[in-house]
Amino acid sequence: MKKIAVCVSGGGTNLQAILNRIADGTIGGVKVSLVVSNNKKAYALERAKQAGIPAVCVSRREYGSREEFEAALVGAIDQAEVDFVVLAGFLVIIPEEMIRRYRNRILNIHPSLIPSFCGTGYYGLKVHEAVLARGAKVTGATVHIVDEGTDTGPIILQKAVEVHQDDTPEVLQRRVMEEAEWKILPEAIHLFANDQLEIRDGRVYQTEEKAEKEAIC
Ligand code: GAR
Repeated sequence: MKKIAVCVSGGGTNLQAILNRIADGTIGGVKVSLVVSNNKKAYALERAKQAGIPAVCVSRREYGSREEFEAALVGAIDQAEVDFVVLAGFLVIIPEEMIRRYRNRILNIHPSLIPSFCGTGYYGLKVHEAVLARGAKVTGATVHIVDEGTDTGPIILQKAVEVHQDDTPEVLQRRVMEEAEWKILPEAIHLFANDQLEIRDGRVYQTEEKAEKEAIC
């Protein structure tokens, strides 16, 4: 059984999707050992409490310097002795030390089809506002491995979602969550926890798919 820490900043609907899929058995081999929030008001903390999962708040405001905050964040995750970390709406720049220590073991969900509408400044509702402003007809969500860049790491799963003409950013955000994020994030966690992914040359391969391809060749 793999242990994970889920990092959150807000409502925690993605955290809830993970917990629901674990509870109904559609994903397995994984347990949420810790929820970390940088925001003490995040509803995600309440969701963790209701599920009986240890939760901590590590807020930048409580630390004199960025370095102290980052050390506390990494320390909290280290203490839980997790196998990997999931960023589920965690709106914090990930400390380099954390990326080094958990190299290829941090997953992030981003609410667009990377490489569109991603990178610095693209988070939460801002992503959907940009999609609508550009007049894109299709958007979606991406689960990827976290590296030193912003949304630049190897892509694990993506799912497309239609943009409707009369969408508001909020309506589009909800559709992207329902049709894409709440599905592909638990699925990626399942694949990762059950050793069905291989990272090679900056790309992610599903090992079963690879085995099938080799059999055909
Ligand atoms: C989600 O849409 C997630 O993809 C996004 O924040 C939202 C959190 O919602 N993350 C980013 O924008 C990261 N760049 P939630 O708290 O209800 O899961």
